[in-house]
Amino acid sequence: MKHVRDFYVFLGPPGAGKGTQAKVVAHRLGIPQISSGDLFRENIKNQTEMGIQANEYIKVGDLVPDDVTVAMVRERISRTDCMNGAILDGFPRTPAQAKAFDGILSETGCKLNRVPYIKVPEEALIERLSGRLTCRDKGHVFHKSYNPPKEPGVCDFDGSELYQREDDRPETVARRIRVYIERTQPLIEYYQDRDVLVEVDGDRDIETITADLVKLLEVEETNV
Ligand code: AP5
Ligand code: MG
Repeated sequence: MKHVRDFYVFLGPPGAGKGTQAKVVAHRLGIPQISSGDLFRENIKNQTEMGIQANEYIKVGDLVPDDVTVAMVRERISRTDCMNGAILDGFPRTPAQAKAFDGILSETGCKLNRVPYIKVPEEALIERLSGRLTCRDKGHVFHKSYNPPKEPGVCDFDGSELYQREDDRPETVARRIRVYIERTQPLIEYYQDRDVLVEVDGDRDIETITADLVKLLEVEETNV
């Protein structure tokens, strides 16, 4: 059987639940979840030169320049753990990144299988981001009310400290949503035109959405 590396892109506004869902669904499919935001935060934590530069954009809610972002993701998906594909969360995020990603896929003989677009009303996004708690170590996400950790302030999965992201402050959240509408929303049409976009109602409970996504991606897997 011909081996095809299948990639999935989880698309949606800040707070849609991309990270929450991508982590669980990737685990179920046995492929890695790659979050460009988590990769940047890792670089910021380690004070790499790229992390220090990227943080200037991230802390005010702007996008990191395309060339830096594409180079970082290209390197990450070239690693061996992506040999059976991966779920990308938060990348691509501009038409230029989407074109660069198409190029990477065709150079490496990979396929973009599906792009689940997680749709959530704006009021819900603000509430989700203002109550989000993120784990320092691996970026697992919780919510003070909707998805609380078992022990306050501690990640259920790896025991690391939970913190509030600097870009989850109200003024930065508003900016991130505006930037999403201007720069990322055009990708909905981009992937609709390629017949890979699937709209998923993200305004339901976490487990129901996960079940729908797993079904959607598993069915696609068996059709390869
Ligand atoms: P990134 O980290 O990707 O942030 P984002 O896209 O703004 O998305 P979020 O992580 O905020 O939301 P999410 O959809 O993952 O939601 P989550 O699952 O956490 O990027 C950060 C920054 O890095 C960017 O602003 C930019 O500067 C830079 N960057 C990253 N990628 C880039 C790129 N490609 N190009 C350029 N720059 C880039 O859920 C949110 C909350 O809601 C949680 O508390 C969760 O528990 C809760 N929740 C989730 N689902 C539900 C539900 N169904 N019901 C109730 N609560 C829920
Ligand atoms: Mg995220």
